[in-house]
Amino acid sequence: MGQPLNVGVVGCGAISAQYFSTIDRLPGLRLAAVADLDPGRAAEAVAAWPGTPVLSVADLMADPGVDVVLNLTIPAAHAEVALQAIAAGKDVYGEKPLAADSADAARVLRAAEAAGVRVGCAPDTVLGTGTQTARKAVDDGLIGRPVAATATMVTAGHERWHPNPDFYYVPGGGPLLDMGPYYVTSLVTLLGPVTSVIGAASRLRGKRTIGSGPRRGEEIPVSVDTHVTGVLVHDSGALSTLVMSFDAAATKAPNIEVHGERGSLVVPDPNHFDGVVQLSAVGEAGWRDLPDSAGYVAAGRGVGLADLAATPAGEEPRASGTLAFHVLDVMESLLASAASGAAVTVGSTCERPSPVPLLAF
Ligand SMILES: NC(=O)c1ccc[n+]([C@@H]2O[C@H](COP(=O)([O-])OP(=O)(O)OC[C@H]3O[C@@H](n4cnc5c(N)ncnc54)[C@H](O)[C@@H]3O)[C@@H](O)[C@H]2O)c1
Repeated sequence: MGQPLNVGVVGCGAISAQYFSTIDRLPGLRLAAVADLDPGRAAEAVAAWPGTPVLSVADLMADPGVDVVLNLTIPAAHAEVALQAIAAGKDVYGEKPLAADSADAARVLRAAEAAGVRVGCAPDTVLGTGTQTARKAVDDGLIGRPVAATATMVTAGHERWHPNPDFYYVPGGGPLLDMGPYYVTSLVTLLGPVTSVIGAASRLRGKRTIGSGPRRGEEIPVSVDTHVTGVLVHDSGALSTLVMSFDAAATKAPNIEVHGERGSLVVPDPNHFDGVVQLSAVGEAGWRDLPDSAGYVAAGRGVGLADLAATPAGEEPRASGTLAFHVLDVMESLLASAASGAAVTVGSTCERPSPVPLLAF
């Protein structure tokens, strides 16, 4: 085994602890340094990992002991931080979405190509046993030719639990750009790239009230649509129906279902790594559970970065910038369709990422 990849983390907010635990568990990754605009927050975040240097963002980027920048900032800062890392000659792996809009995301990919560095992006949850077992069922023909899918994510809003939820209600956020990456990445993994979309969207309120932490009770403005629905037309001809909402209380609909000519699958929550895949074949009564047959077992956030670290130079990592760009383009096209009332052709495409065999994490 080669040397571990030295990871410099930029952005040490709510999600960072999950990544620190993953980096701790994996011999191929080492936590080299952290940085945040708020150094106190960075120091607090790594309190459980004593000895981790807390640097300024500029010093972390310049540090020769950092091989890859893990970008866990808010969506509005994703492109700026990624471009800093690329300018420093480092690979970069970031939280979703790849950038707040596709123009910024394209700048990131162009700069990375020119610099000869790699870009990876969340979500990596779809590399876990849940989505991967469903993908294997599709690839093995258990449902026959795929015809359609439904994807449903409904919540009353993240401001109820997140202490700094502002980013969820500005461009780069909203239910589609925040939660859509899990669902659209899963749909592309299962059914392949998307060629056109038809969307509609609405907004329940112009303000939201923070429900936890020091800012509890504070009202924040909403500048994005908070209920987005639409149809994705896959290159294969399959049609996916999407409902992403911060405006509804709850749902009993499965997160994702995939329907084929010979059967239907229930696919687990794409925001989780695992979960039970269920199959109902035409002519069979009820549903049967499928055993885990593919994917990283007991994985955690950061497995996509480990996957990138293990990908030979010149090959595309599974949680790649190209896939994340296509997913962002699909979501942006859906919002453009909602605004215009017309179907929108998706300009980008990507390969389905290679399947993950059943592997210990
Ligand atoms: N919170 C979750 O449960 C969750 C889950 C999955 C993914 N994510 C994603 O992770 C990312 C971060 O979310 P979070 O909830 O941790 O946000 P957060 O607001 O809690 O933390 C973000 C941190 O980034 C820092 N930051 C912002 N701009 C910066 C810059 N230019 N340079 C350095 N630091 C900067 C902020 O000071 C803050 O500490 C988002 O893209 C989000 O979509 C969050």
